[in-house]
Amino acid sequence: MDTLKKVLITKQGRKFYAKDLSEDLHTQYGFINKDELKKAKDGDLLKSNTNKEFFIFAPYFIDLYRKIKRDAQIIPLKDIGLIIAETGINKESRVLDAGSGSGALACFLAGTAKEVITYEIREDFIEIVKSNIDFLGLKNIKIKNKNIYQEVDEKNIDVVILDLPEPWNAIENCAKALKPGGFLVSYSPSVPQVADFVNAVRKNESFVYLKTVEIIEREWEVEERRVRPKSSGLGHSGFLSFVRKVR
Ligand SMILES: C[S@@+](CC[C@H](N)C(=O)[O-])C[C@H]1O[C@@H](n2cnc3c(N)ncnc32)[C@H](O)[C@@H]1O
Repeated sequence: MDTLKKVLITKQGRKFYAKDLSEDLHTQYGFINKDELKKAKDGDLLKSNTNKEFFIFAPYFIDLYRKIKRDAQIIPLKDIGLIIAETGINKESRVLDAGSGSGALACFLAGTAKEVITYEIREDFIEIVKSNIDFLGLKNIKIKNKNIYQEVDEKNIDVVILDLPEPWNAIENCAKALKPGGFLVSYSPSVPQVADFVNAVRKNESFVYLKTVEIIEREWEVEERRVRPKSSGLGHSGFLSFVRKVR
């Protein structure tokens, strides 16, 4: 997968991505000449052939992340934010993630954690994850073609995150992988999944159940003094259940 070379942003906040600086960049506001693109420095203001202005800069991790390939449903950023905040994932953390899907969560966490190991049963998804890892230039992710309901190789893991249809089937293996004090987080879209997961955790003496949370994000429009919630936005994504391994 080609890496993005430059991000261009209009004064109104519309973003465009240049993949190949040897070609003109075409936008709905006209095109930007390839020679201008090539010689521009970060922070320069460029003009399209229709005189529309664009600032240009090198992509950050989040600019690249927003362009990864997606096939399976990915965890939205609002939910990733809470996972990191509640578990304190940081540069010392070893994280286990299952299933990988498109690898969105695994890749995001690799930008924050020391190491991420991700399990996926579908080989076609593994190819997508590999291509996303390559696109983001990440070196600290391992992908394993494994079923987490059946086996787990890791020990001394700080945080396990499950985004699977039947997370209760992985609880015993999560107990084997986690350190005492480590966190188990389950992300599920539906209420019966939350009930079955939390009920199973409560029966397991290795774990203490903490809480289940839904994050609702509402974006607002701000135009002069016309300030109001946007009428369209992200609807329901999933519930996050937080659990701590104690023994
Ligand atoms: C919703 S996707 C995960 C999306 C991922 N969290 C992301 O942000 O890109 C769920 C994935 O779990 C995989 N999966 C289902 N059961 C599994 C299992 N027992 N072990 C490992 N992976 C599994 C599926 O093939 C699917 O790719």
